[in-house]
Amino acid sequence: MSAGELHAVTGAFGFTGRYIARRLLEAGRSVLTLTRRSPHPDPFGGRVAIAPLDFDPDRTAQALRGVSVFYNTYWVRFPYGGLTYESAVRNIGILLDACRQAGVRRILHISITNPSEDSPFAYFRGKAEVERLVRSSGLSYAILRPALIFGPEDILINNIAWFLRRFPVFVVPGDGRYPVQPVFVEDVADLAVRAGETEENLVLDAVGPETFAFADLVREIGAAIGCPVRLWRLPLPVAAAAVKFLGLIVRDIVLTREELEALTAGLLASRGAPTAATRLSEWLRRQAPSLGMRYVSELARHYRARGQ
Ligand SMILES: NC(=O)c1ccc[n+]([C@@H]2O[C@H](COP(=O)([O-])OP(=O)(O)OC[C@H]3O[C@@H](n4cnc5c(N)ncnc54)[C@H](OP(=O)(O)O)[C@@H]3O)[C@@H](O)[C@H]2O)c1
Repeated sequence: MSAGELHAVTGAFGFTGRYIARRLLEAGRSVLTLTRRSPHPDPFGGRVAIAPLDFDPDRTAQALRGVSVFYNTYWVRFPYGGLTYESAVRNIGILLDACRQAGVRRILHISITNPSEDSPFAYFRGKAEVERLVRSSGLSYAILRPALIFGPEDILINNIAWFLRRFPVFVVPGDGRYPVQPVFVEDVADLAVRAGETEENLVLDAVGPETFAFADLVREIGAAIGCPVRLWRLPLPVAAAAVKFLGLIVRDIVLTREELEALTAGLLASRGAPTAATRLSEWLRRQAPSLGMRYVSELARHYRARGQ
């Protein structure tokens, strides 16, 4: 593979895509991103070319001409503003068609742990449908399945810290014993770029070395930022209502009921061995001074700036 090869990544100004783009630049690749954003200031100082993430089939195929590996991080966290999981699946179908037309050699697709077309959860069903599209695309592929991704720009870990810093109790749905296996965003990017550079078709969980019961994860975050943790265990429907109410305060969808259900079903952990080395517990201590100082809103990040 030649050093200056052009690789494309969705969302280079977002969360996971930013770290993948950085790894690719470090490896000497030329990088193109598909995105709806035009960042000011540009974290890459103009070194990442930009094309619109608008799912126009011809325009996208044209933009991808000359790309050898396509990294797809695109997905929607929950249905909102007219976007559904079904439309996200269709949109990824358009990206895959465009890759084929443009002569892209390999696709690296970011999925999630435990996707299943039989899942009771539409998110996990949609992710499984997309994996089927990727496998049947005719392109060489790697599918990476992260559990919960943590890093400076993540939403969930940061917002748990934000709530712990401001509220005397923390709502936990159910008994809090279900597992969560966080993985560091830099490790996800390493795994993605390494898998992008190989040839064989592969499917791999991206999961860190520590698995926490959710209640222990909240305690770990509280200990790192020096906040007392008083857990308020509530039956799931009551917890979902409480979390919805908190959303009114912060003008966001904090977590949907389905996300809480998938969390309590233990879907954010792998049955296999860890594939990443960074320990959340150690990262939390390094990150503590800035963790949870500011609430990070999914709606502000993905919708409000666009007037929806
Ligand atoms: N974050 C986690 O903890 C986690 C855990 C497991 C799996 N994953 C998966 O990892 C991938 C990357 O997640 P991430 O958190 O790093 O995502 P992200 O950077 O916030 O977004 C990834 C891409 O999706 C686009 N996108 C996101 N929401 C959108 C919306 N509502 N409408 C239109 N486009 C949207 C973004 O577009 P722009 O570039 O225009 O912003 C970006 O290109 C996703 O497939 C996700 O399902 C994430």
